Amino acid sequence: MVTTNNQGFTGTRSSLYEEAIVQYPSARIMDVQAMTKHLNPQKNEKVLGIGEGNGFFALPILEAIGEKGYYLVIEPSPEQLANLARRVTSPNLETLTKGIEDFTPTTYFDKAWSFGAFHHCPNQTQAMKNIYTALTKGGKMVICDVFQGSNLAKHFDGPVARYCTSGHEVKFLSDEFAKSLCYLAGFDESKVKIVDLLQKWKFDSEKDLGDFVYKLHAMTLIPGNEQDKIEEVIKGCKEILGVKKVGNQYELNWPMKALIAEK
Ligand SMILES: C[S@@+](CC[C@H](N)C(=O)[O-])C[C@H]1O[C@@H](n2cnc3c(N)ncnc32)[C@H](O)[C@@H]1O
Repeated sequence: MVTTNNQGFTGTRSSLYEEAIVQYPSARIMDVQAMTKHLNPQKNEKVLGIGEGNGFFALPILEAIGEKGYYLVIEPSPEQLANLARRVTSPNLETLTKGIEDFTPTTYFDKAWSFGAFHHCPNQTQAMKNIYTALTKGGKMVICDVFQGSNLAKHFDGPVARYCTSGHEVKFLSDEFAKSLCYLAGFDESKVKIVDLLQKWKFDSEKDLGDFVYKLHAMTLIPGNEQDKIEEVIKGCKEILGVKKVGNQYELNWPMKALIAEK
């Protein structure tokens, strides 16, 4: 068995992640839009979800694939999966409690989807090989993640790595390594592309923004009381990522990339 790493998505890390998603359901609306645009799930399709966590994308994917579709989630954290199960139940949804490195498919999938999870995979070469194997000929993979050199990588390697209750020692992709992983797995390079995802997370106030990011990344190790912690998160977000007031909302830049490949 390949050693997998759920990067401590247990205990406080998992419960605060769930609180963030429940408390601010509209913050990540653009992430669902990115899924709809790039994965574009269709009726009757079989979709493989990698690191779906507590199920943020499960409902829109299940709605899109309909009664005859199938969504299989590969997720190593039992606590994240327990929260997913509280959020969504469907006869078309199955979950496996394991890392993608340890997944052996027994059926072929039309599409594979991952958001904000691939950097947690300890063996990205094996992970990519397993995704490739799971796809049917002509199948599509969409991996949205933090990439090296971005302000988002700075945010994670700075404040999150210092203050996250479980630590944050991860492997962000470079464009070059992402393409090499696709090549090694068997993808035809002419059918591999990397696109910018200029995500914005949206909030009614700066305090909400700070509270959401604090909880999502379980930054409990920031010194001081609760107010100090939230203020420190807001300060870091402004300095590293940029926050802009648009109308009545505060928009936090969340620059990711999508690695898209066809088998
Ligand atoms: C930051 S969360 C993202 C969850 C969800 N995709 C979202 O956007 O809200 C990362 C998830 O990846 C999972 N993960 C960690 N290692 C993994 C692996 N080797 N294979 C699949 N998922 C993994 C974690 O347990 C966690 O739930």
